[in-house]
Amino acid sequence: MTILITGGTGKTGLKLAHVLNEAGHAVLLTSREGEVPHPFKGVKLDWLDPSTFTNPFDADPAIDRVYVVGPIGVLDTLPHVKPFIDLALTKGVKRFVVLSGSPVPKGGPIAGKVHEYLAEIGVDYAVLRPTWFIENFSTAFVAPIRAHNRIVSAAKDGRLAFVSVDDIAQAASDALLDEKSWNSDRYIVGPELFSYDEVAALLSKVLGREIKHKRLTEDESRSIFTSVVGLDVEYANFLVNAEAQIADGAEVAVFESDNKIVGKKHLQEFFETNRETWVI
Ligand SMILES: NC(=O)c1ccc[n+]([C@@H]2O[C@H](COP(=O)([O-])OP(=O)(O)OC[C@H]3O[C@@H](n4cnc5c(N)ncnc54)[C@H](OP(=O)(O)O)[C@@H]3O)[C@@H](O)[C@H]2O)c1
Repeated sequence: MTILITGGTGKTGLKLAHVLNEAGHAVLLTSREGEVPHPFKGVKLDWLDPSTFTNPFDADPAIDRVYVVGPIGVLDTLPHVKPFIDLALTKGVKRFVVLSGSPVPKGGPIAGKVHEYLAEIGVDYAVLRPTWFIENFSTAFVAPIRAHNRIVSAAKDGRLAFVSVDDIAQAASDALLDEKSWNSDRYIVGPELFSYDEVAALLSKVLGREIKHKRLTEDESRSIFTSVVGLDVEYANFLVNAEAQIADGAEVAVFESDNKIVGKKHLQEFFETNRETWVI
């Protein structure tokens, strides 16, 4: 039996591939080009090109579980993902594990309608709802930290429990392999709450130079998401709203929820291990 990992070149997908491979499970990874890192086998799958949807099943008819990372930057992924789910069911897939996010309820934007669809059709599924990734500090946040010694957000003093992709991958592995399917969603959070001011202070300590949290207005934040990150305005509005919700305490409520998995990796360890990323 083979586990298909969509978004196999991405942050969580590739970690998950290593976790499953080390535990002796067969995996097949997808990317838009079909190229994936060694030692994995890759196949081309593009959510925006349904003609690629049969590729995984042609490459490996033994696929019975799928990790779903939908198209990136798309505000409603269901129109792209549903035809693939429907096809996968005819090919013998028995369980889907979907990457969503803490601010995305069932029926909400991005993966929210995929969540709703899986719950409705009665197939085995799990929806992972991680909060913001620790690894954002080594991707999206790197340029302003290196160029201007600052972390930017519209989250004000709101606190959140940044989570590592290692911990998300472990939760995905459990959701795929647990004998009894979860058939529900779970938040995935890191072990500690931080405001962006506190993150900036921690990184300052690790780097030995002052990093500040620049508090953006919602308009400034929207402008960065559209003009720097290249998102369309509706998607940018979703992210700006999610930052406003952090400011209003939504991620503290997630951290205090009973329906959560708490990861092990600490932000300080990540900063210390990857210190060179922000050294200038
Ligand atoms: N970053 C966060 O803090 C955070 C928090 C909660 C939830 N999330 C969710 O996590 C998901 C992943 O985000 P990420 O930024 O970490 O991305 P990522 O997983 O690092 O990369 C995206 C992956 O999806 C693939 N991909 C992109 N567009 C595709 C398409 N049209 N068809 C098929 N595959 C495609 C990419 O493969 P190729 O480019 O190789 O084709 C890559 O493997 C998003 O849905 C996001 O909402 C993120």
